[in-house]
Amino acid sequence: MSVPDAARALGGTEQPNAARMYDYFLGGSHNFAADRTAAEGLLSVAPDARDNARENRAFLRRVVGYLLDQGVRQFLDLGSGIPTAGNVHEIAHARDPGSRVVYVDVEPIAVETSRRLLADTPNADVVHADLREPDTVWSQATLLDPGEPIAILAISVLHFIPNSDDPERILGEYLARSRYLALSHVVVDEAPPPESEDGLAVYARTATPVTLRDSAQVTAFFHGHPLVEPGLVPVSHWRADGDVEPSAIHGAVAEV
Ligand SMILES: C[S@@+](CC[C@H](N)C(=O)[O-])C[C@H]1O[C@@H](n2cnc3c(N)ncnc32)[C@H](O)[C@@H]1O
Repeated sequence: MSVPDAARALGGTEQPNAARMYDYFLGGSHNFAADRTAAEGLLSVAPDARDNARENRAFLRRVVGYLLDQGVRQFLDLGSGIPTAGNVHEIAHARDPGSRVVYVDVEPIAVETSRRLLADTPNADVVHADLREPDTVWSQATLLDPGEPIAILAISVLHFIPNSDDPERILGEYLARSRYLALSHVVVDEAPPPESEDGLAVYARTATPVTLRDSAQVTAFFHGHPLVEPGLVPVSHWRADGDVEPSAIHGAVAEV
């Protein structure tokens, strides 16, 4: 499938979605007018959205470095997005070319661009699947050796899974076969400010509405497994250098 064909496969380019809005925030070129309009709409009520996206990517890079330090050489990246600078396989292969990375996304352009990027890359694969179907994901993640430690990455994706889909149960099905879980999620612990209602309204008109959760709800996704230091904190503070503003996206890593 070509990238334009992929765009048509997800209801065309008329309805914005999280993958392409995020690509726009990160300065990518795989987005369309509807995505840019929605992203600008979000920036008008939540000016930090672009910074949040960048901090989230920086968190992902630090997390992968941490997991490599722990000896992990296999990564299942759920909701991996449209490839951009500092992809998981680039970080992992720079440390150990034998590391194995499987990307999973439901969005056709994210999958198609990943497929092109990885065409000549050994030890990296992409699966077009919905993370809400763990059996389907695992059955296609054939690059990963179930006998060796696997880290699950669910970075800035679970807020696109509504409570009605029971994301805690879904994560349980990934935890059962993994050694680490790393995730990030938009966290709102106090009464949401009025602009977050406006931000939710922007996403409600996309193919990927957002569900806000508090720290306790996000912590429950780890099923009681201990969080490595510093626990669930703004991604900008997770093992980061320097004095940076707290991000609205919080992240944590648990050892299973
Ligand atoms: C904000 S982007 C995050 C990309 C990447 N994880 C990162 O943090 O840089 C969210 C991604 O999750 C994907 N996504 C949303 N719902 C999904 C689902 N049910 N299954 C798989 N991917 C999903 C979107 O298509 C999008 O590419």
